Amino acid sequence: MIEGIGLGLRSPLAKQLFATGPELPLRWLEIHPENYVERGGHYETLLATARARFPLLTHGLSMGFGSLTPFDTGHLRSLRSLLSELQVPWHSDHLCFSSVDGVYAHDLLPLPFHREASQVCIDRIHQAQDALRIPIAVEHISYYATPAGPRMPEAEHLSEILERSDAKLLLDVNNVYVNAMNHGFDPRAFIASLPLERVVQLHVAGHHLRDDGLRIDTHGEPVCEEVFALFEYTMRKLARPVPVLLERDDNFPDFAELAAEIERLDAIYRRVLAPQRQSKTPAVSL
Ligand SMILES: [Fe+2]
Repeated sequence: MIEGIGLGLRSPLAKQLFATGPELPLRWLEIHPENYVERGGHYETLLATARARFPLLTHGLSMGFGSLTPFDTGHLRSLRSLLSELQVPWHSDHLCFSSVDGVYAHDLLPLPFHREASQVCIDRIHQAQDALRIPIAVEHISYYATPAGPRMPEAEHLSEILERSDAKLLLDVNNVYVNAMNHGFDPRAFIASLPLERVVQLHVAGHHLRDDGLRIDTHGEPVCEEVFALFEYTMRKLARPVPVLLERDDNFPDFAELAAEIERLDAIYRRVLAPQRQSKTPAVSL
């Protein structure tokens, strides 16, 4: 079982990542399989080195469960072969759309929160589960505008998709916080209203606060105090071990800064789970 704090495998971090010792509580790595499917050279070596050193989880960027463009069956076959080789317990990707009529935006675009959109997601999650033959976890995205028209609350939309597709949830604490601040809702109430028994993984990241107050989900800043606090709240609601990813994709600092964030996340994680772990320790009979 993979649990504790992980980091994304990114080329600029790889050398320092692989040089870390057991004193850093870094338990696993997340990879984007699009970087490794049917690729050799640098990427093949990077993946082999990572596998020898850490457990891996996979997080895709291209399935867009709300897209109307049919899946590329060749890509699904190649992806299945990689996931099967890596023996990951689930594969995650995003609740969004990324392409229209075969044109790819290379971005995660927000869905309208209504029944037609949730049905598209449910159908595609079923297709992905059938093709990949492992459980699918979906991640809700950060968004700055949503399509107009009739809509339900985001948490209700997300919960309906999860329940009707039987998918797992990759809960991104920073996405919840960024959306809550930009759109004016309570991030704790949002998290509390989700089917938390479906959560298999968390993401934590930094974001950029603009002068006009808009928060942009950059993955290129340190994690802010409010997101650390929301992570602790989320762990208390979950009250069980899960893998937690520190997402850093841009503006890479000295590795010591990332190591300090990993240690702080791990301290919160262990503090929250300590009572559960103690209560499961068998009593010693004298
Ligand atoms: Fe994320």
